[in-house]
Formats: sequence, structure tokens, C-alpha cells
Amino acid sequence: MTQNNQNLGITANELNEDLAQQKPLLLFDLRLQSDFEKSHIDGSVHAVCDAQSKEKIMTKIPKNTKIVLISDPEDFSKETASMMSSLGLDSHYLTGGFSSWAGKTTTGPTGKTISPDNLAKQLDDVFLLDVRNTDEFSEFQIPGSKNIPLGELFDAKTLSQIPKDKQVVTICPHGNRAMVASFALERAGIASQTLEGGLAGWNQVLKPVSIVNDATKIIQVQKVGKGCLSHIVASDGKAMVIDPLYPFEKYIDIAKERGFKITKVFDTHQHADHVSAARDLAKSTGAELYLSKYEGYDYDANFIGDADKISFGAANLRVIHTPGHTPGSLSFVVDEKYVFTGDILFVESIGRPDLRDNAEEFTEDLYNTLHEKLLKLSDNTMVFPTHHGEDVKSENDAFYSTIQQSKKLPWLDISKQEFVRKVVAITRPRPMNYRKIITVNKGELELVHSEIPDLEIGPNRCAVDAS
Ligand SMILES: [Fe+2]
Repeated sequence: MTQNNQNLGITANELNEDLAQQKPLLLFDLRLQSDFEKSHIDGSVHAVCDAQSKEKIMTKIPKNTKIVLISDPEDFSKETASMMSSLGLDSHYLTGGFSSWAGKTTTGPTGKTISPDNLAKQLDDVFLLDVRNTDEFSEFQIPGSKNIPLGELFDAKTLSQIPKDKQVVTICPHGNRAMVASFALERAGIASQTLEGGLAGWNQVLKPVSIVNDATKIIQVQKVGKGCLSHIVASDGKAMVIDPLYPFEKYIDIAKERGFKITKVFDTHQHADHVSAARDLAKSTGAELYLSKYEGYDYDANFIGDADKISFGAANLRVIHTPGHTPGSLSFVVDEKYVFTGDILFVESIGRPDLRDNAEEFTEDLYNTLHEKLLKLSDNTMVFPTHHGEDVKSENDAFYSTIQQSKKLPWLDISKQEFVRKVVAITRPRPMNYRKIITVNKGELELVHSEIPDLEIGPNRCAVDAS
């Protein structure tokens, strides 16, 4: 029922009383973020009131939850309260705006947040509360998280599912819905932190793990939210990076911390599931960029192929053409001890053709690559792939295996005919946004860096979810 604006106003005194009595209400401050941070009513949350929040947040708030909006002057909150009221919400506004408030105020940003990097460090010690809808959650989530959609958080029975002895972290696609969730929890006496940037931010966390620390050093840099792996290989203070990911600045930080200079950057193949940071990393470090000569790129690089040799520091890299995932895929053998296999050979399985259109032809290539090239390397060669599956256990926090272990993987002891039949029969969903990602990686489309987290948020529909 549409209410008259007149009835929606609530005075500072009335609000003060409601807060003192701890009545359940949501207090949204619609002023500029900077004004909010200077001073805001204790317990209020900063809210941006645009079309997206209208659709994504307001529709999740139960109709019987009292909402008080604050602006300065009151006009905008009055209008918004009226609009929300017409949607059936119990919305009000502070008469006289923020200036009329004489009660308790506080400074700083809304609520408590946790950065994705910090969450990665304490993942095992927190209660991950994902407040997206069930359908969004079922497609993609941080392993171990519990799903309680925002709308259900206003129900006392639901709240009993949240443990009291753990730090609660609220999660949504971009941090807005989760902020409201944290606020709802706070009102119910449960302290929580909101994951900054939501799942899009989470997908950009890069975690370095040192694996080999001999004359040649290998650091695996993991994109924890997506299971992508990249590697820094260093020798004599010179480092090369294989399959770098965004945000590429992280590699520069890691190299600086350890006293390496990044001099070469490689991609094993044209990736379809994430935006390659190879070009930007090479550009910003002045390193040489190396790409497969069997693939088309719209920009300059050193194009390399089978049997090419490249040295850096005291180490040597040998290129093998290993088609099968893509026709132009390369693998890199370093010091005849380590092989970087891209998406051809993983810890837990073999790679699969990336493009279904020529699956049969690709699968034959894949068989030949595995049997005639990679598995011919010495048994103790360490294998470093570009991805890992969700169920794969890490070893000392990293994901790698050996050629000897790889030989025991399923489907490597069957005939070529049977292998092709089995691999071609596999259908799996394409990575979200893969077409756009490929055009970006080819250099046909320039991207603003801020677009990358959303482009990579898959495999889910969150990519277009602005909440
Ligand atoms: Fe790939």
C-alpha cells in the first residue's frame, strides 16, 4: 500500500528511542561516502541507492523490517522512502535529515570488513556466510561456505544456525548485499565482517607458495578463488613468469621481496578461462614477452615454438609444442628437471580439448602429446600445471606432481582409439565469458582493468550481477 510521505517521517527523538530500546531496524545513510565517513549515526550503514540496489537489495529485505533512511537535507531520503514504501517496504526517513541528529555518532567506513587477502590467510578459522540466493550459491561458492540468503537473515530461527564461537564473514557478489547482512546480524547481536569486493574481489587473490628453493627457484602463484596456477622461476636474480594472472602487480611485489628481476614473461597458450596478464606484466617490468607461434595474437611478442631454447640467469628453458588442449599449446622444460604443462597435464587428470568444434582431431593430438612428448620426460621431472581441480589435495600448500605420478593417471593405459572415444564423449560447460576472454587475450579487445574481476567471476552468472 502506498503511504503518504507525511506518514513516513521519523524524528531524531523517535529514532533515538528506537535505537535505545534495540528495536530491530535497518538504518541506511544515503549521503556521500565521504560525508558518512566523517560522521554518521552509530549503527547506520552507508547505502548507495541506485537501480541495482533497488533490485538486488531492497527486494531481499523482509517487508516487516523497519527501515530508516538518512540524507541531508531530508529530501532524497523522503523521496526514496516513499518509493520503497510503494514496493511494500516498511520504510521511513529521518525528518530534518542528518543535521537534526543530536545523538551518538561515529566515524569511519561502514561496519567491519575483511580484505580478500586477509580472508585467504584465515580461511580455516572463520565461518563463511554466503548471503546470495540459493540458485546463485549452487553455481559457485567458496568451498566450506554456508548459504543463508539475505532475506532469511532477519529470522531468529535462521540465526541460530550461525556459530557463536567463530568469526563470521558475510559474502555476496560485490559486497553490498553482504554489508546489509552484516548489519542485520549486528542488530541480532552477532558480530561479522563483510568480504570486501565480494566474490569478485575474492577471485583476484593471488597467493605465492615457494616450492623449489635450489639454484633455480620456483614459486607457485595461485589464484585461490579460481584454481588458476602461475609460476615464477628464478635463477641468479633473474626471474621469468609463466602464465601470469591479474592483478599483475603482485608478481612485481613478490619479485621485489625476494630480490629477483622479472626479465621474461611466458604464456603456455591462449587462455579461455582467465585474462592473461602476460602483456601488462612484460610492459610494466620491461621484460621480454614470449608467446606461442602457433596461435594468433594482435600484438608484438617473441613468438616461440618447438625446440626453441631460452636461457635466464644460469637456467635453461626448452620449448615443446604440446597441442591437444589448444592447437598452439606449449610446455616449457626448465633445466630438464621441471616441466610447465599449461592445461595439458594436471595433477589429478589429463587436459581436455578446449574447443569442442574439432574435438576429435584435438584429442588425437592430446594423446600424441601425452604419450610421445610429456610422458617421455624422465620420471622424476616435476610437473607444474596451470590449473587444479577443487578436490585436489595440495602438497605443502602447492599443486604439482611428477611424470612418474602422471603415468598412473586414468586413461593413460588405453588405446588411442578408446582414448579418443572417451575424451570426445566428455561434455563440460565452457568457462563463463570465454569468448570475450579469448578476444582480450588475443589482443583484439582492450579491457579496462576494473572489468577483469567481473569477467573472471565464473563459473556462474555472477558475472553480470552487480549486487
Ligand atoms: Fe586453457
